[in-house]
Amino acid sequence: MKEVLKIEGGHKLNGTVRISSAKNATVALIPASILAEGPITIVGVPEIADVASLALLLKELNVEVHFPSKGHMIIDPSKMESLPLASDNVNKLRASYYFMGALLGKYKEVKIKMPGGCDLGPRPIDLHLKGFEALGAKINYEKGSYYLKADRLIGNKIYLDIASVGATINIMLAAVYAEGRTIIENAAKEPEVIDVATLLNKMGAHVRGAGTGIITIDGVEHLHGCFHEIIPDRIEAGTYMIMAAAAAKEVRIENVIPQHLEALISKLQEMGVELEVGVDYVIIRGGKPLQGVDIKTLPYPGFATDLQQPLTTLLSIAEGRSKVTETIYVSRFKHCEQLGKMGADIEVNIPVAHIHGGAHLQGTSVEATDLRCGASLVIAGLIAEGVTEIDGLFHIDRGYDDLQGKLVALGAKVWRETVE
Ligand code: EPU
Repeated sequence: MKEVLKIEGGHKLNGTVRISSAKNATVALIPASILAEGPITIVGVPEIADVASLALLLKELNVEVHFPSKGHMIIDPSKMESLPLASDNVNKLRASYYFMGALLGKYKEVKIKMPGGCDLGPRPIDLHLKGFEALGAKINYEKGSYYLKADRLIGNKIYLDIASVGATINIMLAAVYAEGRTIIENAAKEPEVIDVATLLNKMGAHVRGAGTGIITIDGVEHLHGCFHEIIPDRIEAGTYMIMAAAAAKEVRIENVIPQHLEALISKLQEMGVELEVGVDYVIIRGGKPLQGVDIKTLPYPGFATDLQQPLTTLLSIAEGRSKVTETIYVSRFKHCEQLGKMGADIEVNIPVAHIHGGAHLQGTSVEATDLRCGASLVIAGLIAEGVTEIDGLFHIDRGYDDLQGKLVALGAKVWRETVE
């Protein structure tokens, strides 16, 4: 028995949807909180499976975790201990690797299993480890676990060969308590990196330059509890924008920072999507003919790889040819095979997908092989003829807060069903 998501296509979306807080900020803010000596209160925590997995990992470290009300999380590390993280909860998500930097920073020692996460092809963590080593950690890898230990952590200059989001955040976490100054060069500029730096600074850290390519961290001896509200999820917002472009009469998407979505907004406009951009909202009106466009994924502020999969669905129904070049995760194309089952005409030649537009999608059984593949299939299901059945629902639940509820409120016919 398993649970699947079913979508009856063809119902126009209409109304307002409120975007939740950023998953990829949240999953770093929670491990970052253990660096404090007192309680951290985070508001706007999305109800996603990744948060539940991180809460279990916190409990394994004897950190007290409370959810006094919806979206309100209190993390109290005052009684925490330096313990190995070896349970299956580590494998449930990629972001468990942020405990490496946080625990190393706090205790100069950490033992943790290899993290999990979406299968997007090879996802090495060599740059994280290079950063930890530069700060003074010795690294051992044995039987699927990393063991990192440092006598002292001393600030250093670290150049990242790739502007990795994970490595930038992890090195910041390890460096906040290091002696002296750490400089991360070619740092990732994603808004989630800024949000983590903001939390650390509220705790009393000295992190400067987040959002630029050079981040400077001056080590401190103490970090205290604080209050933090998470930024809106630009990828969730982008997903609903693409959904609305595909299937809306008129949809207002609220709690958006449009500056975080400039690349997507430009591409949607190039496709002919009618959109109105406000201070913290975007309105999309459907019904206009759409043209194919070429996209190339790039680090922020370029076109986000996490929106490549959802946009592929829209490109498959737009007129003409489109070319999608994936430069971040070159084999992030598993959704194309699933969309093909629904009638999309896509030729994948890694790292490029050529899309022959104008498809009339048909509902069928498909599988969400990863989180954003799931999003691309939900969009396809909303516009397909008949019913689409999506398996692999746990991937979607890892990252989209109340997807079903939000879609139903917009007038979609979406439900969960338990099947053999
Ligand atoms: N890379 C290395 N070595 C490293 C680290 C990264 O070669 O040590 C490579 C990766 O293999 C990839 C590129 O550098 O080719 C960029 O990876 P990055 O480290 O920036 O990605 P990440 O931190 O593992 C986060 C998000 C992803 C998102 C990417 C890119 C989290 C938990 N994950 O991953 O989100 O695609 O940044 O923006 O924040 C998703 O939400 O669906 C998702 C996969």
